[in-house]
Amino acid sequence: MNPSGGLRWHWRAWRSAALWSPTSAHITAWLGSVQPRSKRLLLLGPSAGWMLPTAWLLRFESIDAMDLDPFAGWLFGWRHGAALKAAGIRWHYQTGDALAELPRLLTAHPRACVLLDNLLGQLRFHTPAWQDPMVYTSQKLAEIKRTLHGREWGSLHDLLSGPAQGLSLGQAFPSARRSVARQDAERQADIAWLAAAKPQGEWLDHLTDQVFTDGTLVQDIAWAFSPDYWHWLQAGWVQPLVVSAESTPDTGQGGLGWDQLLLLKNSIAFNSSFDTSFR
Ligand SMILES: C[S@@+](CC[C@H](N)C(=O)[O-])C[C@H]1O[C@@H](n2cnc3c(N)ncnc32)[C@H](O)[C@@H]1O
Repeated sequence: MNPSGGLRWHWRAWRSAALWSPTSAHITAWLGSVQPRSKRLLLLGPSAGWMLPTAWLLRFESIDAMDLDPFAGWLFGWRHGAALKAAGIRWHYQTGDALAELPRLLTAHPRACVLLDNLLGQLRFHTPAWQDPMVYTSQKLAEIKRTLHGREWGSLHDLLSGPAQGLSLGQAFPSARRSVARQDAERQADIAWLAAAKPQGEWLDHLTDQVFTDGTLVQDIAWAFSPDYWHWLQAGWVQPLVVSAESTPDTGQGGLGWDQLLLLKNSIAFNSSFDTSFR
């Protein structure tokens, strides 16, 4: 059984289209700000592309997608196929383990950029029974980043998820915002976001805070997975070949580090004192 996809995912995604639409709009805005230089896309773990804007896909000449889920390709075609065909875009969808296949896919598509579409946050759910999720995820992420080195790539993934009471649909805050991924650095805005969410009980750490290296521009996006269970998504795009003074992010702000987000081994527990203690 696929712990991060399958028919249950499709049913939930189809039924939640309205609830998820503000998040889809943020994803659309983020993708709109991403200007891949490559005209070929390797799309990994996109399921049916439930939250992907067709218009962004139309910027490519070819798309090669892979997902573990055998239903995903058919549903992707149902959602995006007609527009891709009308625009003359060649697309191909395979069922398979895109992470295990990554070296082969990169060799087969040497000029394609890569989008990991809400896939890396699921890594921990695929930890083999005999391994620790933290060790497994950290080793896999290091390996994936090594494999992608020198390639233009991006990822949208879960950072944290859990029950929240401070957010309501249609509310302006939290909204997507720009920040910079900085391990071991301070992140005051992140704390403010979590405080506003009024997190309750246990939040799950998706173990993805090491996906982007220091200095990568990232977009944080709030996602009401259900009205009282929220995800904090992070999106970023890595363009290794371009170095320009203007694009160098300002890393001079203060804030709080991940270790100060009350990170327990695999989850984060919040209580009512959270609001005040981090302001
Ligand atoms: C949370 S869903 C994301 C769905 C997608 N972003 C969307 O908008 O519908 C995660 C997807 O990643 C896929 N997945 C997880 N691990 C994978 C892997 N190693 N290779 C390929 N697909 C994978 C799952 O099958 C699932 O479809």
